[in-house]
Amino acid sequence: MMTSAEIRRAFLDYFRSKGHAVVSSSPLVPDDPTLLFTNAGMVQFKDAFLGLEKRSYTRATTAQKCMRVSGKHNDLETVGPSPRHHTFFEMLGNFSFGEGAYFKREAIEYAWEFFTQVMGLDPDRFQFTIFKDDDEAFGYWRDVIGVPAERIHRMGEKTNFWMMGDTGPCGPTSEIHYDFGPEFCTCGDPRCSVALDNGCERWLELWNLVFMQFDQSSDGRRIPLPRPGVDTGMGLERIVAVKQGVYSNYETDLFTPIMARTRELLGHSAAEMEQHQVAYRVIADHGRAMTFLIADGVLPGNEGRSYVLRLIMRRAMRFGKLAGFSKPFLGDIARAVIDVMGGHYREIVDRADFVLQAIRAEEDRFQRTLDTGVALLDTLIADLNSHGVKVIPGSEVFRLYDTLGFPPDLTRVIAEEHGLTIDRKGFESAMAEQRARARAAMRFGVEEVAERYRHFGLPPTRFLGYETLVADGAIQAMVGSGQLLDRAGEGDEVEIVLDQTPFYAEAGGQVGDTGQLMSPTGTLRVEDTQSPVPGLIVHYGRVTVGYVARGQQVRAEVEAERRWDIMRNHTATHLLHKALHEVLGPHALQNGSLVAPDRLRFDFQHLSAVSLIELAEIERRVNRQISADMPVKSQNTTFDEALQAGA
Ligand code: SER
Repeated sequence: MMTSAEIRRAFLDYFRSKGHAVVSSSPLVPDDPTLLFTNAGMVQFKDAFLGLEKRSYTRATTAQKCMRVSGKHNDLETVGPSPRHHTFFEMLGNFSFGEGAYFKREAIEYAWEFFTQVMGLDPDRFQFTIFKDDDEAFGYWRDVIGVPAERIHRMGEKTNFWMMGDTGPCGPTSEIHYDFGPEFCTCGDPRCSVALDNGCERWLELWNLVFMQFDQSSDGRRIPLPRPGVDTGMGLERIVAVKQGVYSNYETDLFTPIMARTRELLGHSAAEMEQHQVAYRVIADHGRAMTFLIADGVLPGNEGRSYVLRLIMRRAMRFGKLAGFSKPFLGDIARAVIDVMGGHYREIVDRADFVLQAIRAEEDRFQRTLDTGVALLDTLIADLNSHGVKVIPGSEVFRLYDTLGFPPDLTRVIAEEHGLTIDRKGFESAMAEQRARARAAMRFGVEEVAERYRHFGLPPTRFLGYETLVADGAIQAMVGSGQLLDRAGEGDEVEIVLDQTPFYAEAGGQVGDTGQLMSPTGTLRVEDTQSPVPGLIVHYGRVTVGYVARGQQVRAEVEAERRWDIMRNHTATHLLHKALHEVLGPHALQNGSLVAPDRLRFDFQHLSAVSLIELAEIERRVNRQISADMPVKSQNTTFDEALQAGA
C-alpha cells in the first residue's frame, strides 16, 4: 500500500520532474486581508498570477495546509457526518504563471499522466467537467487524451468557475471526478452522473484545474490577467482514499492513527466506536485543525480566526463528551496528529509544547464556561417559568453562545429537562447577523485603495533606500481624491509615484518614511509612504511651495535622522525577538510589530503574563547585545533558508 506520505512525495516529485519548483506550504493565516484562512494552494501565489510579483520560477508545486469553514460543502455541521469533508485539509497543486506560463493543454496532460501513470488508476473510472463554452478544454480531453465525449460534461459557473474569495484571480475550471461505482450511488437517478451535480456519493471530485484568466474586482468586473496561468488543487485526503482503496477519508492512514488513539483513550469496543462514528470523525478532523492553527499562531478567542478556532475546539469537546470523555483529551489527540503529520510539517513538532499548553488552557476554560452557563441558564429558566413562558428566546440562546461559547444544543437539552424548548429560528437569525458583522469586519479599506492602484496599471517602483537616502526620480503618476492628476499646486494633498525612490514604504510594522520631493517648480512635503500593491511605492504628502507636475524630475530626500531612529528600533525588534525566545521559549513567535522612530511595539504569543523577573532578564539580554555594538549586515535569502537560520 502506498502511504499518504509517499503519495504526497510522489506528487511533488512528479511536478519537480516537469520543471516545477517545490515550494513549502504557506501558513494557515494568510498575508491577505480579504481572506480568513488560506483556503487553496494558489493563495501564496496570488500576486504572481496578478502580474504584481515576479518569482525566480514560473512553475511551482506545493502541498498546502488549508482551512475551509464555510462554503458550499464546508459548513461545520457537514464535518463528521460526511465521509470526506474537512475543516483542515491538504491541497496538492501545480501552478504556472508569468512569462511562458503553460495553460490548459499541459495542465490536462500532467493531471492525466499523474493519475494513470504515477498513481496507476484505471482510466475508465473518471468523468470530467468543463466550463460550458470551453471548447478548447473539451478538445484536449477528447482528442488529445482520448476520453469518450459522453464522459465530458459542460457545466455552469456554480461548479466550473473558481474564485479565491470575492476578489482576486479567477477563471474557468475543469474538474476530474472519480467513480466509486454504481453500487455507491445514493441518488437513485437512472441517469446518475457527475453532470447532475446532485451530491450523489458515487462521485468524488478529486482534482480541480483552474485556468486563471481574470482578476475579479470588488465592483464585479472581470479584468483579463496580463498572462493566463494555471492553478490546480487536489485534496490529498481524497487521492489517498482512492489510492488506498477506501471509501471514507477517515479510513486512510492520515486519520486511522488518530481514530485509534481516540478509541484507546475511551476504551471503546469496535461496536462502540462504530456507534460514535460522527464523534470520532469530528475529533480527528478538528484535532488536526486545532493543532495546525495554534502552531501557525492562532489562539482561541472571541473574534475572527480565534473565534473559529474556539468554535472548532468546543465542538470537538462536545462530541468528545457525547462519546464518553469526562476529562481533558484534546492534548492527546494533538499528540497523535503530530505523530502522523510532523514528518512533513516540522512546525507542529517544533511548537508542540506550546500547542499542548494552549489546548489545555482552552479545555479548562470551557469547563468553567459550562459551569457558569448552567448556573445562568437555571436562573433564566426559573424566571421564564415564573412568567409562564415555555420557549427560551433565540436572543437568549445566542447570548449564552456568543458571550460564553455555551453550545445551543446543550441549552436545548437543559431546557427540555425543565419542560421548555428553545427558539431555534430566532437563534439562527441572531447567528446570521453575527456572521455578517464578522465578514464586514474582515474587509479593511486597504482593498479599495489597492484596487484603484491596480487599475492604474503602474510599473513597480525601484527601491533605492537600502543604499541611499537621497536620489533623483521621475514622477510617473499623481493622484488626488482618487483621480489621476497632471499637476498639483500649493496646499494640494497628493499621492505621488516615482520610477525610483529611496523612501521606504510601511511594511512589516516599520512605518513609512517622511521627507521631501523637490521638482524644478515646487516642493512636496512627504508625510507618509505606503505600498498599496506589492512593488509599488506611493508618497503621500502636500505641496508646500510652487507646483509639481507629472513627468517632472524630482530630488527625493528622506528625513535621514528619523529613518536612522527607525532602523535602530527595527534592529531592536530582532534583538527582542531573540531574547523572548531564549527567556520564554521558542513559541514566543512574532504576531505583529510597530517600528517607529520614537518607540517599538512587539506583539507575541505567550500563555501567561510575562513576569517581572522574566522582563528584567529580557531587558538585560537586549541591552547586552546593544552594548556589544555588533555590525548589522543585510543578506537576501529564500524563505526556507531564513526559517532554517531561525527567522
Ligand atoms: N484554487 C482551486 C481550488 O481551490 C484549485 O486549486 O479548487
